[in-house]
Amino acid sequence: TTLSEFIHGLPKAELHLHIEGTLEPELLFQLAERNHIQLKYPSVEALKKAYKFSNLQEFLDLYYEGANVLIEEQDFYDLAWDYLEKCKEQNVVHTEIFFDPQTHTERGILFATVINGINRALQDARTKLGISSKLIMCFLRHLDEASAFQTLDEALDYKDLIVAVGLDSSEKGNPPAKFERVFAKAREEGFLTVAHAGEEGPASFVKDAVDLLKIIRIDHGIAAIQDEFLLAELAQKQIPLTVCPLSNLELRAVDQLENHPLKKLMDHGLLVTVNSDDPAYFGGYVNENYLASAEALGLSKADLCQLAKNSVIASLLSEPEKEHHI
Ligand code: HPA
Ligand code: ZN
Repeated sequence: TTLSEFIHGLPKAELHLHIEGTLEPELLFQLAERNHIQLKYPSVEALKKAYKFSNLQEFLDLYYEGANVLIEEQDFYDLAWDYLEKCKEQNVVHTEIFFDPQTHTERGILFATVINGINRALQDARTKLGISSKLIMCFLRHLDEASAFQTLDEALDYKDLIVAVGLDSSEKGNPPAKFERVFAKAREEGFLTVAHAGEEGPASFVKDAVDLLKIIRIDHGIAAIQDEFLLAELAQKQIPLTVCPLSNLELRAVDQLENHPLKKLMDHGLLVTVNSDDPAYFGGYVNENYLASAEALGLSKADLCQLAKNSVIASLLSEPEKEHHI
């Protein structure tokens, strides 16, 4: 079997995926038309040409602009359903999806519209595609603490649908400490916590996310490679990292995939997983991330099996559910 067939054959969980980042240019144009929204770009091709980034912020600017076409509950359903069909195609058996309510509530869309649309697609994926899922609500770290508290308040009505809270958007200038109190309240309310840390920010942000936000999993975390004490701690505690190689390449967190620390992190004994982050923007879903990493870093089939197994272990599924997938 080819490497790509081998990767396809591995049952995988995806643990780092922004639903707004799965908005393919074709659907973006369809929704713009359906909702009578004028786009800056004359065509799908012109939009795709704009997807060249030199850092996280340049990407985020286009990602938030793209999300403006999402208005009705059905739009959120369609967005999520297209991604879940992709999961089926790629043998992703379980997915833990981030959504960013503030991206929508800030422009007058109701929290209920967002979550009900996404949740209906997740339910349909369970029954029609056999794909299980969890929903993680992210706070936008470039917005203030008050906005995050208000968002947490809105989420309390949907505790049965949301398992964890996370932290995303512009990392530089927005350290974990800014959300220490919000995360404390979220934990009191029974949510698990995760956070993006060490994507563009320093290793100290990874350490602070663990210590101050009490996260059970780190999103990205690649800057940890700079700090051997932190590496030892993450290995000892088996705190998982949800690494996104093509995202790191496209946002220039690494200069080339050959220099990505993925394999080194594995060799240090960390619980590393491979994920797609924002596949519509970074040119690949989960299998393409596995394949590009394997080719650039010379990963063996045993390494790839380990990564797929790690994805199940690092998931928020119950132990019996994990057993079922391994
Ligand atoms: N980093 C931070 N925030 C994000 C990302 C990311 O890669 N994708 C969507 N929001
Ligand atoms: Zn992300």
